[in-house]
Amino acid sequence: MTLLEIFPSLRSGMPSPRVDTSVWPCETHYDELGRITVAGVALADIADQYGTPTYVLDETEVRRRCRTYRKHFPDAEIIYAGKALLTRSVARWIAEEGLSLDVCSGGELAIALAAGVDPARIVLHGTGKPFCELEAAVAAGVGRIVVDSLAEITLLAALATAPQQVLLRLSPGIDVPGHPAVRTGATDQKFGLPLGSAQAREAVERVLRQPNLRLVGFHCHLGSQIHDPDFYGEAIRRLVAELARVRHDHGVTLTELDLGGGHAVAYRRGDPELNLAELADIIDDALDAACARTHHPRPHIAMEPGRAIVAHAGVTLYRVMAIKHIDNGHTYVIVDGGMNDNPRVALYDARYDAVVASRHPTGPHLTATVAGRYCEAGDILARDIRLPADLRPGEVLAVPSTGAYHHSLASSYNGVGRPPIVSVYEGRSREMVRRETYGDLMSRDLG
Ligand SMILES: Cc1ncc(COP(=O)(O)O)c(C=O)c1O
Repeated sequence: MTLLEIFPSLRSGMPSPRVDTSVWPCETHYDELGRITVAGVALADIADQYGTPTYVLDETEVRRRCRTYRKHFPDAEIIYAGKALLTRSVARWIAEEGLSLDVCSGGELAIALAAGVDPARIVLHGTGKPFCELEAAVAAGVGRIVVDSLAEITLLAALATAPQQVLLRLSPGIDVPGHPAVRTGATDQKFGLPLGSAQAREAVERVLRQPNLRLVGFHCHLGSQIHDPDFYGEAIRRLVAELARVRHDHGVTLTELDLGGGHAVAYRRGDPELNLAELADIIDDALDAACARTHHPRPHIAMEPGRAIVAHAGVTLYRVMAIKHIDNGHTYVIVDGGMNDNPRVALYDARYDAVVASRHPTGPHLTATVAGRYCEAGDILARDIRLPADLRPGEVLAVPSTGAYHHSLASSYNGVGRPPIVSVYEGRSREMVRRETYGDLMSRDLG
């Protein structure tokens, strides 16, 4: 027996090996009962009060990540990618921390405006933006619209009755490693226009010809979970060369480069992350070199982290429903959530860890697969993880690093409503988004 097992009160306030801060919110500890707490609130209490599954979001962690970005990139515009997680509260926190906001639909724009985000700090994205969404964005006075196609220029030109700033999205032909579904910087994919292509050149000319469209620069987004900062340096080299070409051919000096998001975060202990200090150095060096080579003034840099702002602020709570031991030795732990609240495992083969939140396990462990409740064999949350051998139905499991692309990708498959989001802050919990009810599920069904 260890000292901690004999005197559990010693654990209070100490970071536990169960809660590695590389994947959990910084303010994660455990209390005298061995229960995991985030921002001073026991996760087991949240499960009891709000039910399960439930997304828990640590406000302080979100704000801390915003400040980290501002500290590392004092001269850059940090534009939070709302697709990772957007509620009115999140939009407010982001704005209060001095970040801008990237929205990619009329719905996200509506949330941002309802939260009181300054439209001038909003950037509209999207491949295939519907006319009505462009119309709403122009009417709201969004700061910039990222043009994704030639057809969009025609729509925008018709809509803009006053000067509208736009960026042109280019795919720089940089193929970062990763799941094919998230490699967006390569030339053969649906986003933007290939850098150096006839279409991209025509897009520049067309925008420049429109009296109410102001081309301010270029945008690119290389992909997701990028942990090698050199890819961003290479993007700068290629995009600055294009800025210089526009200056030479059209006599216009574009002033902005938006490098998109894709900054890698750890989902499990030991996963590689993008080092922001290294990224800052590489951006600086690449700008110096590229601008010196092309004699182009240094453009203003923007970047759009989504996951890196919110992923580690989120923890999802599940209750164990059943435990099945298969004759081949495999154990399945069935929980009351799954692919509806976390489709990333099925979509991207993402790997997660899960731990018991309601006690400090002291006995032996077993290797198990945590599976969801939904009618799909692929409904898996975590494969081959270590869990206490004496785990019982009714206990609460917590999955860290679930703040990004979980709530925003969630569905109500099998007629199961989406979980609530409960924010935690300085010892208090608050339901930010309530659980989807049967009434909600039927509200669009007109009978
Ligand atoms: C244009 C754009 N910007 C930013 C992001 C945010 O990416 P991440 O959350 O990986 O930082 C995405 C994600 O798909 C994107 O498409």
